Amino acid sequence: MKRVLSGIQPSGNLTLGNYIGAMKNFVKLQHDHQCYFMVVDLHAITVPQEPAALHEQTETVAALFLAAGIDPAKASVFLQSHVSAHAELGWLMTTLVYMGELERMTQFKDKSEGKESVGAGLFTYPALMAADILLYNADLVPVGDDQKQHLEITRDLAHRFNKRFGEQFIVPEPYIPQVGARIMSLDDASKKMSKSNPNPGSSIALLDEPDVIRKKISRAVTDSGREIKYDPANKPEVSNLMSIYSHCADLSIAEIEAKYDGLGYGPFKKDLAEAVVGALEPLQQRYRDIRSSGELRTILRQGAEQASVIANETLRGVKEKMGFVKP
Ligand code: AMP
Ligand code: TRP
Repeated sequence: MKRVLSGIQPSGNLTLGNYIGAMKNFVKLQHDHQCYFMVVDLHAITVPQEPAALHEQTETVAALFLAAGIDPAKASVFLQSHVSAHAELGWLMTTLVYMGELERMTQFKDKSEGKESVGAGLFTYPALMAADILLYNADLVPVGDDQKQHLEITRDLAHRFNKRFGEQFIVPEPYIPQVGARIMSLDDASKKMSKSNPNPGSSIALLDEPDVIRKKISRAVTDSGREIKYDPANKPEVSNLMSIYSHCADLSIAEIEAKYDGLGYGPFKKDLAEAVVGALEPLQQRYRDIRSSGELRTILRQGAEQASVIANETLRGVKEKMGFVKP
């Protein structure tokens, strides 16, 4: 069975972008792959986090994984900080990655822009992400389009290690959705929908109340035309809403175009809002059930135990190849 690994940072409220770009594929892949899904809390602290908020958000994201449909009987769900091999291989990868490679990362440029001081961890972030993936010898990494560059570094590091120290790592492939790989902000279709955008109207959070979702969609920016046509270059706002609709209502883009032919934005937005509410309501109900059941801790502990077996075995092989003395 092929291996799959992915992670999401507990750095704010997860959005529909996270769901469509990544989590929907987690759920899809779990049926016929050996899957590892983690909350990457060590990555979240590459920008300052308030401890109580980090704690709460970490549990929220883990519960959302389960609420979205990840089945702990099929996939290992865990916290990155519970498997210490991540930090250790992360360091080893930091010594292999080049400054020039890190300097090219657009996520680093975006996140450091305009900041007076930036932690070194934000810069070396891709080395830890490479460690996350390579520890499990993952074949596939389900992510949104914005992570392609980090995957490229991971692939380069896998090749570099194998060449320098001997065959160790599988070179992973990104697994990116065809529609919705980059869900854009509702207020500005030139920016990706992001949990760290300070304007709450720019994104739909997975835990937004139905009426909040309806309001956000009714206020979403559209162009001045009235045609429901998928044309990301000329109609980026409407095309973005169509991608969201396609995922939430399980309709193809062509089916949506046909359905709203000649109808204008009003009815389209109304139906879109109900499609999003309909897709998120069961998830929100399951989320509340999971949080109140108290089962989360047990699931995360079991997930970390399963993950540690694989991760420690890889780390042992890596250290031996690099010449570290065995304990
Ligand atoms: P992050 O929120 O940066 O931890 O991202 C977690 C996962 O969600 C990654 O695989 C991202 O590529 C994906 N993702 C985040 N925002 C979006 C978006 N607006 N559209 C599509 N995928 C996204
Ligand atoms: N860098 C990813 C993001 O910002 C999160 C991440 C960390 C990740 N480690 C990973 C994603 C390993 C996939 C695999 O979204």
